Amino acid sequence: MSIQIPRGTQDILPGEVEIWQYIEGVAKDVCRRYNYQEIRTPIFEHTDLFQRGVGDTTDIVQKEMYTFEDRGNRSLTLRPEGTAAVVRSYVEKKLFGQANQPTKLYYTGPMFRYERPQSGRMRQFVQFGVEALGSADPAIDAEVLALVMSIYAELGLKDIKLVLNSLGDKESRDAHRQALIDHFKPSISEFCQDCQSRLEKNPLRILDCKKDREHPLMKTAPSILEYLNEESKAYFEQVRAYLDQLNIPYVVDPTLVRGLDYYYHTAFEIMADGDGFGAITTLCGGGRYTGLVEQLGGPPTPGIGFAFSIERVIMALKAQSKEIPVETALDCYLVSLGDAAKEKSVELLYQLRAAGLCADKDYLDKKMKAQFKAADRLEARFTAILGDDELVQGLINVKNMETGEQKEVALDLFIDYMKQQNLGR
Ligand code: HAM
Repeated sequence: MSIQIPRGTQDILPGEVEIWQYIEGVAKDVCRRYNYQEIRTPIFEHTDLFQRGVGDTTDIVQKEMYTFEDRGNRSLTLRPEGTAAVVRSYVEKKLFGQANQPTKLYYTGPMFRYERPQSGRMRQFVQFGVEALGSADPAIDAEVLALVMSIYAELGLKDIKLVLNSLGDKESRDAHRQALIDHFKPSISEFCQDCQSRLEKNPLRILDCKKDREHPLMKTAPSILEYLNEESKAYFEQVRAYLDQLNIPYVVDPTLVRGLDYYYHTAFEIMADGDGFGAITTLCGGGRYTGLVEQLGGPPTPGIGFAFSIERVIMALKAQSKEIPVETALDCYLVSLGDAAKEKSVELLYQLRAAGLCADKDYLDKKMKAQFKAADRLEARFTAILGDDELVQGLINVKNMETGEQKEVALDLFIDYMKQQNLGR
């Protein structure tokens, strides 16, 4: 029996991979302009990192981690998200001590969550994310939001909605937490097992429960916005004022709670708002975190970031039938006729490529007609035809496939001639 790909993973084949490269290219270029630098952290980390960083009561830690013991009996986990690992590195490598602050980082790579796979929900998916560490200025919140909205705008994504909330500072969150406990406790037996165990540990997560979504107490639950203290209120207002100044539209949704524990103050999600999208509409999630750096052993440092998966961006682009500019055409295809010409073409091909051109030839001893067909299929802009006779005369025939124009070129000038044709990328 042949072996199949694991559930919730995918092969990204040529033809599709160019879309990925394009999206990653746009995202990296926007990060460059915003002065964010790339960081690469390991795919697996000590399990402790996520238990402490993401939070013991979250779905991710309780149900979704790929955790294993290595041969040295250490508990390791395939990273389910990027923030905890970036903060671990920030603390371990003392990035807080560097001259340029805040530390502005971006990352991309595979993440792993044992979820029930469906369209837009994978067990291995690729996140693109940023983290800005070391500033509690609301302008950084606006910068991070402007950055992700710019990526989407430059990709041509339409019909997206930025949903914003504030979870407040510790004092506000604690007051809201108590109000939630008081609200749900008398009727908690009507809720699912998960909600019952969340009541004391993390009552905010009850608001995010899929099973009890319709329970009447959900609609009347105390809103965090009513529990924001003056400082948290002022912070949220300033973030919104910056977004207004930048003309970035948003809606405030006081029921937006994030699935990870580390958020304080600004929390946000970006949703696909158009038709033709499946059940999963969240494209991006993020927010501000206050205690995470300290919790992972660093000095008190505020941070903010977001992550989105490339899979969901592609879904959204496809749902709006967005054409993605993908350049795969060859500059030159070498056709040869005869043994000596075939041998010479190996050298010419090497020289074309060294000169920066995208070039190829036949390796299956195809007849001349089949070689021309291959040149057509590969959308070669030029075909260069070398026969044994031409080789003796020191000539090669170059055909411009767009205009049909043919020209005999001296073999020793061939590479220079091709370089002059404005090819390469
Ligand atoms: P998250 O909301 O868990 O946040 O995930 C962020 C994004 O990752 C989601 O909006 C979605 O695009 C994508 N995603 C998550 N799970 C899957 C999945 N199973 N399949 C496909 N895509 C998925 C975080 O991960 C935080 N670390 C974000 C953050 C960065 N907060 C602050 N900084």
